[in-house]
Formats: sequence, C-alpha cells, structure tokens
Amino acid sequence: MTSLSKPLASAIEAIGDTPLVELSRITRSEDGQILAKLDYLNPGFSKKDRIARQIIEDAEAEGTLRPGQTVVELTSGNTGTGLAIVCGIRGYPFVAVMSKGNSTERARMMRALGAEVVLVDQLPESKPGQVSGGDLALVETQAQRIVAERKAFRADQFRLRGNFRAHYLHTGPEFLRQSGGSEAMLHHGGIHAFCDFVGTGGSFAGCAAAFKEHDPSIQCFVVEPEGAAILAGQAVTYPNHRIQGGGYSMAHLPLLNPAHVDGYVQVSDEAAVQMARRLAREEGIFAGFSSGANVAAALHLLRGPCRGKTVAVIICDSGLKYLSTDLWS
Ligand SMILES: Cc1ncc(COP(=O)(O)O)c(C=O)c1O
Repeated sequence: MTSLSKPLASAIEAIGDTPLVELSRITRSEDGQILAKLDYLNPGFSKKDRIARQIIEDAEAEGTLRPGQTVVELTSGNTGTGLAIVCGIRGYPFVAVMSKGNSTERARMMRALGAEVVLVDQLPESKPGQVSGGDLALVETQAQRIVAERKAFRADQFRLRGNFRAHYLHTGPEFLRQSGGSEAMLHHGGIHAFCDFVGTGGSFAGCAAAFKEHDPSIQCFVVEPEGAAILAGQAVTYPNHRIQGGGYSMAHLPLLNPAHVDGYVQVSDEAAVQMARRLAREEGIFAGFSSGANVAAALHLLRGPCRGKTVAVIICDSGLKYLSTDLWS
C-alpha cells in the first residue's frame, strides 16, 4: 500500500490505492448500495495507469523490454497516457497509435507527457467520438507496422498478462480491503456483485478473479453497449456507440475468463450519458461515458437480481477527457 506520509520516488508510485466511495445520493431511493472506486484520480486520470505500470514492470522483470527500447501501443488514449507517464519516467521512448475517432484531449495530453502520437483515420462510415471494431482494426495494422519498423516492444494490452495482473494484484484486493470497514459491509456483508464495461476485459478479468478467489459467491457482470453486446451472444446492430474505451464487438477477448462471468448487462448511450451527468451533479464525481455505463448497470442490477445488495464499480476515467464532446453542455 502506498504510504502518503513521505515523498514518493516518482508519480509511478502514486498509481493505484484510489478511494472507494459509496454513491449514497444516487442510491437514495434504491434498495442496496453502489461502491465506486475513483480510478480517475490516478496521475493520468484513468484506471489504465495501473496496467501501464504492470506491463512495463513485468516486461522489465521478464527481460522482454530492453533498456531504452521504444514502446508502442494501440490506445483509446487512457492506456497511452499511462504508458507515456511510466515510459517517460523509466526512460523508454513511447509511440501511441490512436484512432482519430477518440477525443482530441487525449492526443494532446499524451504529447504533453512526451509521447509520439500517431493518429489513424476512421473508416469512411464511422463518426468522430464513435470508434468501432473496424476503426480499431485499422489502428492495429498501423501499430504492427511501427513495431516492426522500430524493433519496438509492443505493450499489447489485449494480450499481455500485465493488464490482468494489475487488477488481480491491486484493484480487486483494494476493493476487498476498502469495503471491509464500510457502512455497506456492516449492514450487508461486503461486496456482493461487480459490474464492469469491457474493452480489453483486463479490469473485469483481474477484479473478477480476485473476487472469486476471496468469495466465489460474488457475482460478476460484463457491461456492454446496447446494440453491441457480442459477449452476451447478441447480434451487433450498433457498433458505433458512444461509450469510449470499450464495446469493440470483439467476440474473443484473450484475457477474459468466461467461467467468471455470471451475467451480462447492456447500457444505452443515453443511459451512460445521463448517469455520467448524475455522477457529476449529485456525487461530485466528474467522470466519462464508461463510468456512467458502469453506474447505470449497477443501478439496473440493484433493481433486479442484486436488490438489497452491494455492487462495486470502477470510475474509469475523468470527465476532463471529454470536454470537447457533448457529454458536458
Ligand atoms: C474509459 C475507459 N473505460 C473502460 C475501458 C475498458 O477497460 P478494460 O480494457 O480493462 O476492459 C477502457 C479501456 O481502455 C477505458 O479507457
């Protein structure tokens, strides 16, 4: 656990150990609690700082990353920001490859942190702010080309175990430790359920593994966009949804263990947007679309299979990353 009573060696040490907050205003008239982990308070303003640190530390330990070697990753902006911070401090040049469909704040922030940002055009039918699986495939091709050209280390968030391990070793255990002494614990016996909007599936997989190991009865729900719920086995009718950072309509996510999935929840763009706005207005939590999706899904669970229970969610990133979008008026 990070000690805040003395100076830290670098901003890398300030990653993780984020606060857990009960959303008691949003659940005022509900039967049950939502516990929200404020991962937007990480140095790069998202939960992805955690995986950036873990992927680089694991690669250093395994010898797959040489001193001074260039690091490349495909990113919707958050992993890239985390990698820009970690690579900058540890002395690795970093190239972020991102779709032009992601908000411009992200590219600017990565550049400010010393990253080289390569922006990739969207498919002709795609819209800015709505990055589809097809758009992501174009970004992947570019990322692979740059890795080959520069003999770089690919910080492959969809495949490397560091993504899973960051949440298995830290986020999940933090949730369990922090919910131990809460009001929710006293009245209802800790965390009963967890729901998470899935991109790579790393957060879901790592937290679910930690939760199931602690107590197999903790129910874990995958959150997907309405119309792009491929993991739930539904037809993809709306790939260009607005919930940035996930919902890529990829049928197979290498890090996700289907045995840990107890159910699926779908959230519409509108529900994610409305809940992000409620989080800001009612709880003072200024977060992005996917955080809104997570809380909207948690509320849906409290009104259904998790009535009277405590549902845990991650507040994935900061609302500041969406100032150029119409999330905020
Ligand atoms: C804002 C945001 N929300 C959710 C996710 C999905 O998280 P994961 O990749 O761990 O499934 C991401 C991933 O990049 C993200 O940036």
